[in-house]
Amino acid sequence: MRIDIITVLPELLRSPFAASIMKRAQTKGHLELYVHNLRDFSDDKHRNVDDYQYGGGAGMVMSVGPISKAIENLQAERDYDEIIYMTPDGAILDQNSCNQLSLAKNIIILCGHYKGVDQRIRDLYITKEISIGSYVLSGGELAAAIVVDAVVRLIPGVLNDETSALTDSFQDGLLAPPVYTRPPEFNGLKVPDVLLGGNPKEVEAWREEQALLRTRERRPDLLGD
Ligand code: ADE
Repeated sequence: MRIDIITVLPELLRSPFAASIMKRAQTKGHLELYVHNLRDFSDDKHRNVDDYQYGGGAGMVMSVGPISKAIENLQAERDYDEIIYMTPDGAILDQNSCNQLSLAKNIIILCGHYKGVDQRIRDLYITKEISIGSYVLSGGELAAAIVVDAVVRLIPGVLNDETSALTDSFQDGLLAPPVYTRPPEFNGLKVPDVLLGGNPKEVEAWREEQALLRTRERRPDLLGD
């Protein structure tokens, strides 16, 4: 998968992709990631990319010029499956949309700032608008990093043990069950006997039951009725 991120703060995106699974995905050739500085597409001598809002009001708006240039330059080179805009008024990200996005070949992610982008960019280019939750961040960069992380780990071959993404919370509509490692007892708390018993069927049944209990307790909304 190729991901192009358009941002005014490329430095914010460097470290999330330089470690752990995101780094490995790139070294193993599963992910090609390019971070583009929107200011490089500005015709302004101060490299400005924003302007006052029509109608007045506090806060600047990201202008159409640099963004359309950045997007069209990329589109001239290849087709994109999605052009995503990170915004608090987008659809809330969930595991389902991550699964779908993990099938894409080429994606552009545009990070918003200030009061956001001129509506005409959204009307003309954007195919998906994503929010990572009902709160407002200073910009779309950290949200974009979260989308990339959640999507890239689902690309086959990125995780060492491919089944581990399948047993993540949400993949089967449930939260994941509790997990334990050594020692068998810590501060008086014991690892459940069934996990030490060596019977895979019983372990599986226990995990399913615990996943259901945890989901009912913490996220009943996932269970519907
Ligand atoms: N930009 C600012 N807040 C955001 C959010 N909650 N999700 C996505 N992008 C954002």
